[in-house]
Amino acid sequence: MTRIIVQPQGEGDKRPKGNLVRRQSIWTRLTHWLWVLCLFFLLFTGLQIFNAHPSLYVGEQSGFEFSNSVFSIHAERMPDGSIGGFTTIFGNKFETTGFLGYSGPEGREQVRGFPQWLTIPTYQDLATGRVVHFFFAWVLVGTLAVWALASLVNGHLRRDIVPGRADLRGVPGDVVRHARFRFVRGRRYGPLQKLSYFVVLLVLFPLIILTGLTMSPGMNAAWPWLVDIFGGRQTARTIHFVVMVLLVLFFVIHVAMVILSGPINAMRSMITGRYRIDAEEEERP
Ligand code: HEM
Repeated sequence: MTRIIVQPQGEGDKRPKGNLVRRQSIWTRLTHWLWVLCLFFLLFTGLQIFNAHPSLYVGEQSGFEFSNSVFSIHAERMPDGSIGGFTTIFGNKFETTGFLGYSGPEGREQVRGFPQWLTIPTYQDLATGRVVHFFFAWVLVGTLAVWALASLVNGHLRRDIVPGRADLRGVPGDVVRHARFRFVRGRRYGPLQKLSYFVVLLVLFPLIILTGLTMSPGMNAAWPWLVDIFGGRQTARTIHFVVMVLLVLFFVIHVAMVILSGPINAMRSMITGRYRIDAEEEERP
């Protein structure tokens, strides 16, 4: 049965408060803040690497003689003699001057894919971008391995991440609650939380790691089947980029949900492990 809670949300919430419960293990908390650190550096160094050739293709090949580009950022001379930035997505061209293609402080604009404020380092430096990117990529791999092992052993994976039938049945009700900005503060994640964490941890993270490995020449020699699975290195690069965009979208919604559902309680649970549940949730196991 769908339960709709009608009280307002947030820290000023008048709902009767329940006890503090132990919600997050040390492994969940530790790995969570490592995801944040890794993804921060991976995103901004990734955009630095992307800027070296700001176009994406689908298929085995890329180059001037092929028309398999699905996304590209470039600069063009405008009719009035100035330079403009443009982004083309599936053949549809948009002017993006000041952000994509041509950007920078007034009078010092540059032809570059993503702007300076979105890349590490801020100036064009592919070598540094690659070193930092690969370092944090391996930290991410290690963190995922530690998270998977700990979560398997302490039951977090089965209990909180892999959605069961009851969770899937609860999705429509949870969508309605979220649309009305009503959040249940229980001992466990709600159906949408479970589903989104499942997708991030067990679909998007493995996918971004595997497509990253597919682009690495060393791995091409060791595991040539990776290139076949992803339909070529160019397609792997495009999937890698799309997964990055999905992770950024997740991040924006995730942080918005933390703020809307009561940021102090949520942050306490991710720092100390303790979370204050609603009084009416106390009887639930
Ligand atoms: C790189 C970006 C981030 C990713 C990929 C991410 C991912 C996740 C995942 C997968 C979980 C579930 C963890 C588990 O149960 O094993 C989680 C929980 C959580 N995250 Fe994040 N997170 C990110 C950034 C943040 C930030 C910046 C904040 C703080 C504003 C935050 C606050 C939280 C909180 C409070 C929870 C626990 C939610 C709850 O107990 O209801 N996250 N996050």
